[in-house]
Amino acid sequence: MAKSILSYSCTACGAVHKKWGGKCDACGQWNTLTEEAPLSAGPKGKSLGATKGRVIGLSALSDEEPPPPRSVSGMAEFDRVLGGGLVPGSAILVGGDPGIGKSTLLLQAVARFATAGLKCLYISGEEASAQVRMRAQRLGLQEAPVQLGAETNLRDILTTMEAEAPDLVIIDSIQTMWADMVDSAPGSVSQVRAACHELVTFAKKRGCAVVLVGHVTKEGQIAGPRVVEHMVDTVLYFEGERGHQFRILRAVKNRFGPAAEIGVFEMTGQGLAEVSNPSALFLSERGQAAPGSAVFAGIEGTRPVLTEIQALVAPSSLASPRRTVVGLDSGRISTILAVLESRCGIPFTGLDVFLNVAGGMRVSEPAADLAAAAALLSAREDVALPADMVIFGEISLSAALRPVGQAENRLKEAAKLGFSQAIAPRGTKVAGNEGITPRQLPDLVTFVGDMFGAG
Ligand code: TYD
Ligand code: MG
Repeated sequence: MAKSILSYSCTACGAVHKKWGGKCDACGQWNTLTEEAPLSAGPKGKSLGATKGRVIGLSALSDEEPPPPRSVSGMAEFDRVLGGGLVPGSAILVGGDPGIGKSTLLLQAVARFATAGLKCLYISGEEASAQVRMRAQRLGLQEAPVQLGAETNLRDILTTMEAEAPDLVIIDSIQTMWADMVDSAPGSVSQVRAACHELVTFAKKRGCAVVLVGHVTKEGQIAGPRVVEHMVDTVLYFEGERGHQFRILRAVKNRFGPAAEIGVFEMTGQGLAEVSNPSALFLSERGQAAPGSAVFAGIEGTRPVLTEIQALVAPSSLASPRRTVVGLDSGRISTILAVLESRCGIPFTGLDVFLNVAGGMRVSEPAADLAAAAALLSAREDVALPADMVIFGEISLSAALRPVGQAENRLKEAAKLGFSQAIAPRGTKVAGNEGITPRQLPDLVTFVGDMFGAG
């Protein structure tokens, strides 16, 4: 029979190793291996096959299952990202950089849920109750019937949760929780995993929704690490650019709703304000038609969002010119530059290229290809695109334009915001009642000829 032996796990990627080493072989990080408590081999040290368990109840796939009842906070942006409200017994992880506003968002949300009649606990492992109370006063939420606790001992927290039987518990943050049966420091992989497991088990057993706050490491992973992401039902990231007021709550995984849904907020002196019309906000800084600017009609989750893509192209003094991309996938931009160069005969050699999405938004749709190419060409040729034009479409390596989904929604949103022209790939399905009839083009070469003459 195998002896239970110590193992070592990497705090960056979660890989488990038998031997300690200075470097994790799986992800290449240094000094990230920490000791894990040995796994127990079950009752009396027998393997699972040796002792009988009980027979579990099975059911047919066709059994009727009513949709989960949901509680809404009334914060429409928050409810939508959850998939239409909070599901009882669900476990939700809210990740984000320190200082981005996670505690503020959750305090506001929990106050709304409590006012709506849910029994809510807010457990802070980072701040004293007085600090949380002061923040609540600043946000004008001191009357909300939320019960506060400042504690990091998980056993005490679970006992309290058992006694209080709440509907919703916020744990701020999972990295400060300390489970006394695990022999390592708070924040280590074993601690975070154990704390998360206990809390998620409690949530499922008691039908109490649990929201875990997780700080993200600089590599963009939730510290302590991916293990937490697959233990919970829903993973939300709260993100924003430093120096911008906009904050975006993005669902990256949701067992109870569409993933990739976003909620948009603005950080103000009175906390986070909901932004119900993000397109208007992202386009608000746009002035007169200027070279290098293109408006992309995108889809985020279930909703259309218009964003401005800005490009600057300048002669470079460097041997390998700069390619600085913010808010878009830089690999895709390199591909677009290569397609422009080899298929359309428009070289970018000897030119620095800067590209970004205005307002600190991040766009990952391939449908943004054509708008990015338009911004690049407009900057390079120093010709402004029409101010009332939106663009969408995917570019293939052969420079053909590929139609993208939800064209109607994109066009309707653009029409609502006062745009009157659109460029889309040939074959785009439209019903004809969107308010804008797009010009449908077969490939990038035609686009260049149409917009910029001979190029
Ligand atoms: P916080 O919620 O503490 O961030 P996190 O929990 O993600 O670490 O947010 C802190 C920041 O938010 C801080 O820099 C101040 C700012 N803030 C405002 O601008 N307005 C407000 O009303 C509040 C409460 C915070
Ligand atoms: Mg906080």
